[in-house]
Amino acid sequence: MDLMELSAPCHFGTEAVLKKEIYDLGYDIKKVEDGRITFLGDAEAICRGNMFLRTTERVLVNVGSFRATTFEELFQGIKALEWENYIPSDGKFLVTKATSIKSKLFSPSDIQSIVKKAMVERLKDVYQVNWFEETGSSYPIRIFLLKDEVTVTIDTTGTSLHKRGYRLLTSKAPITETLAAALIQLTPWRKDRVLVDPFCGSGTIAIEAALMAANIAPGINRQFLAESWENLIDKSLWEDVREEANDLVDLNIQTDIQGYDIDSDVIKIARENARMAGVLDLIHFQQRAVKDLHHPKKYGFIITNPPYGERIEEKENLPIIYGDLGARFAELDSWSAYIITSYEGTEACMGRKADKNRKIYNGMLKTYFYQYLGPKPPRRKKS
Ligand SMILES: C[S@@+](CC[C@H](N)C(=O)[O-])C[C@H]1O[C@@H](n2cnc3c(N)ncnc32)[C@H](O)[C@@H]1O
Repeated sequence: MDLMELSAPCHFGTEAVLKKEIYDLGYDIKKVEDGRITFLGDAEAICRGNMFLRTTERVLVNVGSFRATTFEELFQGIKALEWENYIPSDGKFLVTKATSIKSKLFSPSDIQSIVKKAMVERLKDVYQVNWFEETGSSYPIRIFLLKDEVTVTIDTTGTSLHKRGYRLLTSKAPITETLAAALIQLTPWRKDRVLVDPFCGSGTIAIEAALMAANIAPGINRQFLAESWENLIDKSLWEDVREEANDLVDLNIQTDIQGYDIDSDVIKIARENARMAGVLDLIHFQQRAVKDLHHPKKYGFIITNPPYGERIEEKENLPIIYGDLGARFAELDSWSAYIITSYEGTEACMGRKADKNRKIYNGMLKTYFYQYLGPKPPRRKKS
C-alpha cells in the first residue's frame, strides 16, 4: 500500500498529545480537528499506529471525502469511491457508525443504509456479481459528517484501543486507558519522578504510567482487526511491529509509582490489573484514605481522578474529600498536582486557583484538568 490518509480519534481536549505521539512515531500530520488527527502513512503505519499510540481509540483509513446535503449526493459520493482498492469480493462491509454534526443529513440509520447500498452498487459492477456472501474478513465502515462534509473511513482496529487487555476488572467509575495516558502526557512527569494517584480505583493512571516507564507498547497484549486482512497489509508487517514492541520493553528500571484508594476491594482489582499488564513490580498499591496521604520525597506528582459526585459518591461528601486532598497536597514539599474532575468546587477545596486548566471531555461528561505546578527539581551536578 502506498501513502494513505489515516485518521485517529481522541478525547476532546487531548488533541495536542495525540498529535505529538503520531509525530514522534515518525508520521506527518495533515490535519488537527476537535477530537481527531489526520496523518499520512503506509501499511506499516497502520500496524505501528495500532500498536504504539496510547491516546487514540482507533486507526482509520480515510477512503475519501466529499460534500453531501441530500441522500442522493451521499449515494453518488459513496459510489464514486474506489472501494475495490480496499474491499475484496468476499469482504464483510458493515457500516458500523455514522456521526453527524451541524449537517443537513443527520439520521445515523438512514446514512448507514444509504452508504451500504451505494457500496453494494459500486462493488456489484466491479466484481460482476449480484450478491455478496460476505464470508471473508471484516472492513467496518465509519462515516463522519461535519458541516455537510462527509468523511468516509475504514476501521483497522476493531475492539477500541483503550481495551489494552489488562483491565479485566474495574472499580465503579473507571477512566479510560487512553484518557489516563493522555493526562499523564499533559504533565511533565517522567519515569524518574514520583507519581501518586490517591484515588486510584482500578489503577488505570498508575498502570498507564508504568507502561510508559517500561516502554511497553499499549497494544502489546492484544490483536487488531486488520490483522485478519489478507489484501492490504502484509502479515510480515504485523510480525515486525510485534518484534519492535517486544524489543523496546525495558523492565530493568526504578520507579516510584503509587496507587492508593480508600476501598480495599478496589486495591485488589488494581493489583490484578497491574499484574495482567506486566507492571505489578513497578507500582505500589495500598489501601489508604486521602486524608492520610504523605510521601517523604520532594518534587513528586499527584495525577488523579477523584470521585465526581455524578456516579459513585454523594455530592455532600465531595467538599470533605477534595478538602483533604488540598490539605495533604499543601504539606507535600515542591509537589505538583493534576486533577481531572467535573466537580466545580475543586479549586475552592484545594485552597487556591489552579495554575493551568484544560477542558477535557470524558465521554459526554465535561471535565476540567486542574493543574497545580510545582517547581522543577534542581539539575543534577555532573560528576
Ligand atoms: C473516579 S474513581 C477512580 C477511578 C480510577 N481512575 C480508575 O480508572 O479506576 C474514584 C475513587 O476514589 C475512591 N475514594 C473515594 N473516597 C476516597 C477517599 N476519601 N480516599 C481515597 N480514595 C477515595 C473510590 O473508592 C474510587 O475508587
